[in-house]
Amino acid sequence: MSNIAVYPGSFDPVTNGHLDIIKRAARIFDRVYVAVLTNSAKTPMFTVEERMDFIRRTVAPYSNVEVDSFSGLLVDYMEQKKANVIIKGLRAVSDFEYEFQMALMNHKLSREVETLFMMTSGRYSYLSSSIVKEVARHGGNLSDLVPDILADEILHRARESK
Ligand code: PNS
Repeated sequence: MSNIAVYPGSFDPVTNGHLDIIKRAARIFDRVYVAVLTNSAKTPMFTVEERMDFIRRTVAPYSNVEVDSFSGLLVDYMEQKKANVIIKGLRAVSDFEYEFQMALMNHKLSREVETLFMMTSGRYSYLSSSIVKEVARHGGNLSDLVPDILADEILHRARESK
């Protein structure tokens, strides 16, 4: 049986912290689906298609990584993909409580599903999509925060949405 993992999230937009997790997960699993949630309660800055396109452009070198979207329960999506592991990045203790609750709920909903937490590399531990958007809205420098090929587009959109 191949080991298939799903890395779910809003990715609004993808950051270097997310990419760090994707690269490391791609070394562990046969296949990794990066799955963008389509029906989030949050109001996104980027459409699902834009977010998927951003991720696709940056994961192109990793042949076992596929970018996809999902709606509804994550465990239902996992079943469709025959995936048994949810990948989550943990940045700090503050992430833990919510992630712990989600991991337990997902395991309750499907006993087949395990959540694997990966510690975000120290150099990205302060990064989040929200903080990237905040910097971008004020025209700050996004280098080291998001993939270089996306920085100008993110800055441009953030300025428009001010
Ligand atoms: O990047 P985010 O916004 O922190 O990601 C949250 C995400 C997409 C992982 C989470 O909201 C999710 O899995 N949503 C799907 C609905 C679901 O299955 N929730 C968990 C059990 S109640």
